[in-house]
Parts: sequence; structure tokens; C-alpha cells
Amino acid sequence: MKNNGMLAHHRPQWKTNLGFLFAAVGSAIGLGNIWRFSYLCYKNGGGAFLIPYLIALITVGLPLMVLELGLGHKMRGSAPASMASVSKKWEWLGWWQVIFVMFGIVLYYSVVISWCLNYFFFSFDLGWGPDPDTFFFKDFLMVSGGPHQIGHLRTPVVFTLLLIWFLNWIIVFKGVQKGLERANKIFMPLLFSLTAVIVLWSLKLPGAKEGIMVYLKPDFSRLKDPHVWMDAFSQIFFTLSLGFGIMITYASYLPRKSNIVKDSLAIGFINCFFSLFAGFGVFAILGYMSQATSSPITEVVSQSIGLAFVVYPKAISLLPYFSRAFGVIFFGILVIAGLSSAISITEAFTSSLIDKFHYPRKAVTSVLCVFGFLGSIVFATQAGIHWLDIVDHFLTQYGLVVGAICECVLIAWIYKAQRLRQHINHYGDWKLKFWWDMCVRVISPLVLIFIFISSVAEELSVSYGGYSRVAIILIGRDWLIYTLFVAIIVASHPWRSDPKERMLASE
Ligand code: PHE
Repeated sequence: MKNNGMLAHHRPQWKTNLGFLFAAVGSAIGLGNIWRFSYLCYKNGGGAFLIPYLIALITVGLPLMVLELGLGHKMRGSAPASMASVSKKWEWLGWWQVIFVMFGIVLYYSVVISWCLNYFFFSFDLGWGPDPDTFFFKDFLMVSGGPHQIGHLRTPVVFTLLLIWFLNWIIVFKGVQKGLERANKIFMPLLFSLTAVIVLWSLKLPGAKEGIMVYLKPDFSRLKDPHVWMDAFSQIFFTLSLGFGIMITYASYLPRKSNIVKDSLAIGFINCFFSLFAGFGVFAILGYMSQATSSPITEVVSQSIGLAFVVYPKAISLLPYFSRAFGVIFFGILVIAGLSSAISITEAFTSSLIDKFHYPRKAVTSVLCVFGFLGSIVFATQAGIHWLDIVDHFLTQYGLVVGAICECVLIAWIYKAQRLRQHINHYGDWKLKFWWDMCVRVISPLVLIFIFISSVAEELSVSYGGYSRVAIILIGRDWLIYTLFVAIIVASHPWRSDPKERMLASE
């Protein structure tokens, strides 16, 4: 990279705006879109769920997307650098987000991608056999009795995990243009076309129509249940990769003349449209399966993980023709969707270390991916699925939500929403109006605080997932506390150069 003399290091930039959009959409579309969304829709009143989902998208998702992209664009820095540029006292927030996502969410997320990769290979000979349920839990994962019974490592998982981390490493190692942009330019068109193949294929199967009816039939009475609303808001957060520090970093590689509002709308709508579209495929095949086995659809549907690794393999085996090809494509889609999300946080973390310590990219990614792989191994044991369940619950329900509340306080109140709005409007042709300030100052934080309080209240009344309190505290809560602790220590280290330099040099 060329050093321009003013900057301590030259900041990489996306080659094209489309390249940025592909990368951001690649981060947003992940494992969560394909079956978690469909399952939530089904559980929470079918088509009626789209109402809270769209409200969540408009009142919280899109405004926070604009906030994160605007912040990264203005400060030209990763999450910690951007927050430190606003106030040195808040640098810990950026570190905390990237640390608990990188050394938390992505550790188990890559294990799930590695299961998908195993299933991709199993698809070639329908290796899950006649009883996918027993196969998944007993033969493949050999799930232990609880989180405290660690057991041994599952070798097939460790091998594919190694491959996933290798791919992750090679892409981020090559940098923004040659790695992330190029990879996503292949991944996204591939993802969209393969998904279209699967959805159209599924819609042609007998029974598909009944499946779609169950997916979309609105049950408006469910909207009275606050859980439905909480699910909609937390899904929007997770699916748009908000509160991860990723969007801030990705926007920091944009050129000055950028249309933040337009890009935010594009990312938000493409992501949600993808979820809705993929849901048609998921439910069409469930409809087919219920017809083929003459059992009601309510009996074939199951929780998120079960849906992908138990119900889907069952359905694939039942297909009248080309079942293997269907399996290969379906699990291939999951691997691509997951990998394009995993690389985004590796990049966000790498960028944070480069910004603060000026370490060389290649060394940072190499060390990071080795640690990432080693950390993921925790979830590749026989107790892995229990740990995954607990860590996922705490990190997404609390970590992301608390991080986003702090983000609103810092940017919308301390820095002032109006200032960021002026910056965004100065460079983009689509202008933000005053209502955006209202969303990020009042509506989003209030909704998030409500979600947070309701989750805590529920946590205190029933132990999550029936796990022991000790397991919940040691694995779930402490994961957040330790990462916060590390974040504070890293934030207290001095900068190699003033974090504001990047921004001033580019004004
Ligand atoms: N948006 C992703 C999804 O829906 C979540 C994610 C992003 C997970 C980045 C890990 C890293 O699956």
C-alpha cells in the first residue's frame, strides 16, 4: 500500500459501489436468513409476522444501518477507531462489539457452517440414511448429556472447520479489493441464482401450495403476544449484522462521495427480500414432505437447527428425482451464505487492530484465524451444541442489544444525530430528514431498552433452555463480562497515531 505522507497508513477502498453492496449484503445474508426467518414466521403467526418484521426494519433496522454506515464513512475507521474519534472514553464499546462477535458469535457460527459443509458432502450419497434425526444428534454430533459433559472432539467437524477457517483466512488475507470484494462478487450472484433454483424447484413439487399457505396464512391474533415483537426486532438486528461493528468498518472503505441512505435501503431491502423468498422454498418443501408422508405440516416443522439438519435431509431423501443435486445445492447455499458473513467480522476485527496498532494485515489475519480456529474447537466437542445454544442466546439477546443501545447514546446523543445527518446529506443525493434523528434518538433506544428489560425479566423467571444456573452464568453471562473486560484493557492502550487523523486527512 502506498503511504501518502499524511496518513500513517493508507486506508483501503472498495473498487466499486457494487462491490461494497455485495460485501455488505454478503454479511447480512447468512445462516439466519435461510431457516431462522422461516421458522420465526411460522411460529409467530405466518404472514402476520411480516407486520412486526417490517415495522422493526423501518423503525430500528434501517435507521441504525444509516447510523452505522454514516459513522464509518464519517470517521473512516473500524468500530473502535470510529468510537474513539467521537470520544476516547467510548472506545471500549467498539472493541467490545468486535471482540464478542469475533470471539463469540463467529466461533460457533463457523462450526454451524462446518456442519453445513459436512452435509454438503453427505448429500452426494444421502449419507444421513433413513433416520436423519438419530444420524444428526447421535452419529454425527454424538451430543453429550449436558454442557458440563464435554466428551471428545468430533473429528469430522474439526476437519471441515479447518477448511472454513482456511477460506476465511485466505479471503481476508488478500485484503479489501482482492479478497473481500472479489470473493463477494462471486458469492453473491452464485447465492442468488442457486437460491432461485431451489425455490423454483420446490414450488413445483406436489404439496408445495399447502406449505406456502401455512407459511403465509396470517394469524393476526398472534400480534398481541409481546414475544412475537421481540423476535421480530432481534431477528432484524442479527440479520442486518447491526451492533457487530461490521457495517461501520465496511463503510469506512467507501469513497467520500457516497450515498449512505441509498446504500442502507438497498442492503436492508435486499436482505429482507431474500429471507422472504428463501422462506417460500423452505415451506414448499415442507408441504411436499407433509404430503409424501401423509402427516400434517405442524408435525414436520421443527426448531431452527432441527429444520436444516433433520427435517431438510428427510425431505431431500424423499424427493422423487435428483435428490442428491438438491441436497448439494441447498447445503452449498448455506456454506456460501455463512462464509460471506464470517469473513465480514474477521475483516472488522483485522481492521480494528490495523487502525490502532498499525500491525501488518497479513500477520493480523494469520494470527487471528489461528486463534479463531482454536476457539471454535470449543463448539466442536460433544457438548458443542449445548454451549452454542447458551452462548448464542446471551450474545445475541444481550450483547448486540446492549451494544446498540450504547451506540445510540454515543452517536445520537453525545455526538448528536443532527451532525451525522448533515455529514450524510452533504455527500449523498438522497437526503435524510429530521425523522431519522427521532428514530435513532428516541424510538430505537426505547424499543431496545424494552427488549432488554423483557429478556432480563424472562431470564430471571425461567432458566434459559432448561440449563443449570451454573452453566448459564459461567458460559453465557461470563462470556459477555470477560469480553468486556478485555475490551476495556485494549481500549486503554495508547494509539500509534491519533484516531482522528484518518478523518481529518480525508475531509
Ligand atoms: N447477518 C448474519 C446472519 O443473518 C449474522 C452474522 C453476521 C453472523 C456476521 C456472523 C457474522 O446470519
